[in-house]
Amino acid sequence: MKTLIEPFKIKTVEEIPITTREQREKYLKDAFYNPFFLRSEHVTIDLLTDSGTTAMSSKQWAGLMDGDEAYAGSRSYYKFENIVKEITGFKNIIPTHQGRAAEKILFTLVAKPGITIPSNSHFDTTRGNIEYAGADAVDNLVDVGMQPEIEADFKGNMDVEKLRKLILERGPQNIPLCMLTVTNNTAGGQPVSMQNIRDTKSVLKEFGIPLILDACRFAENAYFIKKREPGYQNKTIKEIAQEMFSYADGATMSAKKDGLSNTGGFLALNNDELAEQAKVLLIITEGFLTYGGMTRRDLEALAQGFVEVLEESYLELRIGQIQYLGNKLLEAGVPILQPTGGHAVYLDAKRFAPHIPPHQFPGQSVLCELYLVSGVRSVEIGSLMFGKEDAAGNPLAPPMELVRMAIPRRVYTQAHTDYVAEACIETYQNRSKLRGMKIVHEAKYLRHFTIKLDYVGN
Ligand code: F0G
Repeated sequence: MKTLIEPFKIKTVEEIPITTREQREKYLKDAFYNPFFLRSEHVTIDLLTDSGTTAMSSKQWAGLMDGDEAYAGSRSYYKFENIVKEITGFKNIIPTHQGRAAEKILFTLVAKPGITIPSNSHFDTTRGNIEYAGADAVDNLVDVGMQPEIEADFKGNMDVEKLRKLILERGPQNIPLCMLTVTNNTAGGQPVSMQNIRDTKSVLKEFGIPLILDACRFAENAYFIKKREPGYQNKTIKEIAQEMFSYADGATMSAKKDGLSNTGGFLALNNDELAEQAKVLLIITEGFLTYGGMTRRDLEALAQGFVEVLEESYLELRIGQIQYLGNKLLEAGVPILQPTGGHAVYLDAKRFAPHIPPHQFPGQSVLCELYLVSGVRSVEIGSLMFGKEDAAGNPLAPPMELVRMAIPRRVYTQAHTDYVAEACIETYQNRSKLRGMKIVHEAKYLRHFTIKLDYVGN
């Protein structure tokens, strides 16, 4: 196979910090073993998130200079709105400064106690917004999606039978909408098939429930459909994305991902009445209708980002880079969630550190050691992020204990990727020394962002 080359060259470089293990031990302790408290100047390769960390193109930077900073009716807004409408086909586009602002507006309007919001898998902020409004956020992931060692094409899919059962149990009148996350971040960046989008829509249609896509990685999802789903090989990424959106009644979007920009988002709705209410909230909380919470130059960068993200050569490298890292780890026997998904490689902490029980956060222990070994920062997606307690106070673990290494778009080279692979392999070789962790301090909602931890026995 020929080497996959980056379909771009580098115009500006940014130094990255090189630190010693001794220094990292201090930095990590000072950060209470929470990667969100680490300073980026102490991080060598930052795989905390692929959100807002994209390297923009020269055309996007040029767009920033060309932004029209008018408060109302900005030319930059209409450019943004045009491309979003062209891709999604939705009637009302409501710009927000990032994805969770769109979620906040939507769930302020539709969620309250007694309401249930189903999804294939909710992302943490989506779940947070739903639960904060007093409603119930319920995941309906296909069973295979919870088995990290099984290879399958569309492990992000909704289990439509579970969804139907949930609707009948809770009553369609208590389900104002259903989310579908493409790709499914919580389940390992795994794609959702077009067939599954259609099937989900058809169940919802029976009950008159609208379908809202959480679309922040829509282009990566479209690429997987092209590569894996019969009938899509000769379609363009744009055509596939358009078809995906055609089955939905709206979308929330964090454009910090597949908008290829450092900030931005939107809420899109076909329902005019709901959109009118959303616009009121937008003005109260984010800003005017033609900028949301963004500068207008951000809208220029986004308008160009939405063009570039649909280029197949970009997506081939993007997905290829993640696959390359995953394959290196598999060759060395490091357990990862298979197959690799759209934006990250996920270490399977259950198999990585089987001696640490879920309530002692095996994933967090793995990611701390990975940082100590290499300065690579990652994030836990397991009991720390999603763990709950039953009425008696016993820990309830989520189905998987993962460590996500999210790859920023167009930022790191193949040598960086090799360095990350070596760091994971070294961490795996030292796995018997990994220790369980305990909580020192936590918040009620979205605790993983601000949690403070220490090792058990310290
Ligand atoms: N939905 C999904 C599937 C996401 O992955 C994110 C963010 C959001 C919604 C919220 O968007 O950050 O712009 O407010 N995910 C980032 C991550 C933070 O690291 O996965 P936001």
